[in-house]
Amino acid sequence: MAGKLIGILTSGGDCPGLNAAIRAVGKAAHSRGIEVVGFLDGFRGLVENRYIRLDNARLSGILTLGGTILGTSRDKPHKMVMGSGEVMNMLPVAVDNYERLHLDALVCLGGNGTHKNAYRLAKDGLNILTLPKTIDNDVAGTDVTFGFDTAMSIATDAIDRLHTTADSHQRTMVVEIMGHEVGWLALGAGLAGGADVILIPEIPYDVERVVEPIRARSRRGKRFSIVAVAEGARPRGERVDHDGDDDAEEEAWHSHSLALVQRLEELAEIEVRFTALGHLQRGGTPTAYDRLLATRLGTRCAELIADDVGGVMVAVRGDDCVPVPLKEVAGELRTVPKDHPWIASGRAVGTSFGD
Ligand code: F6P
Repeated sequence: MAGKLIGILTSGGDCPGLNAAIRAVGKAAHSRGIEVVGFLDGFRGLVENRYIRLDNARLSGILTLGGTILGTSRDKPHKMVMGSGEVMNMLPVAVDNYERLHLDALVCLGGNGTHKNAYRLAKDGLNILTLPKTIDNDVAGTDVTFGFDTAMSIATDAIDRLHTTADSHQRTMVVEIMGHEVGWLALGAGLAGGADVILIPEIPYDVERVVEPIRARSRRGKRFSIVAVAEGARPRGERVDHDGDDDAEEEAWHSHSLALVQRLEELAEIEVRFTALGHLQRGGTPTAYDRLLATRLGTRCAELIADDVGGVMVAVRGDDCVPVPLKEVAGELRTVPKDHPWIASGRAVGTSFGD
């Protein structure tokens, strides 16, 4: 009997650790006699039947590499924009390509949007396994996603650097941190970087409450302040759209942060500067933590495939990597609970959350 053949693809926004995960799935699969092909540019590669063989040579030297050797896209098979501009349901074509290659499983590395798309394919009969990747850390069912730690380190380093220039110029620095509709990244980096104010989508803010700690600091002789604002944070009364989709709303993100900067300048009569960290947070080499996490998840995934387990996301639960049914993950968004210990710690050290 011939050995198994599996496909792998990366979808949605890239993040550090994707190549480490591809390598882990591939090498652990090879060691079990399973062959691997990689579809290019996310689900588009599956629909267009564009793939490469992932042999050992292809998987070598990529552990520390940022981005994804397979390329990625935000394409959705059920709503694919064709060359003509027409939007078409390409799910049947994706299923057909999977079957014609006689794949035993398709491994999808992605965040929330990817999980919705993967679940659609699973319902159409494909044997799907997923790995939770995203800098946003907002995938349900797992303690953490790979990519998050690296992005948090980059954002923390940026806050450290903003401190010295803020102090020199006696300015308030507003730094916008990615995270889509959730606040994990701004919260983690804000705490690690000692931001004075952290604004996240889960805690709608009041501008007056943002100004108060800045004024209080200046009364205590602190001549500068750092405000870490998640791109999805909104003032009280403004709706936060928790649809968990991967669609980017970049211009809208900035406009909210810039409106905050303007209000701070008006209310506090202080000099404010704005920095959007943007895609810097997704680029470059993964941290040791993310390389390790991606390796643990990827190797566990290959083990599950060898054991004929499918229809699952490989999730992190403490020290273990466990299969979680896709239907429990798809369409669910993991937001920051208001009583999360990180928030309690922030409040305990005097961080304001603008509420
Ligand atoms: O989901 C990852 C993420 O970086 C979000 O934090 C951000 O809102 C979005 O992707 C940006 O998307 P794009 O790379 O398509 O501009």
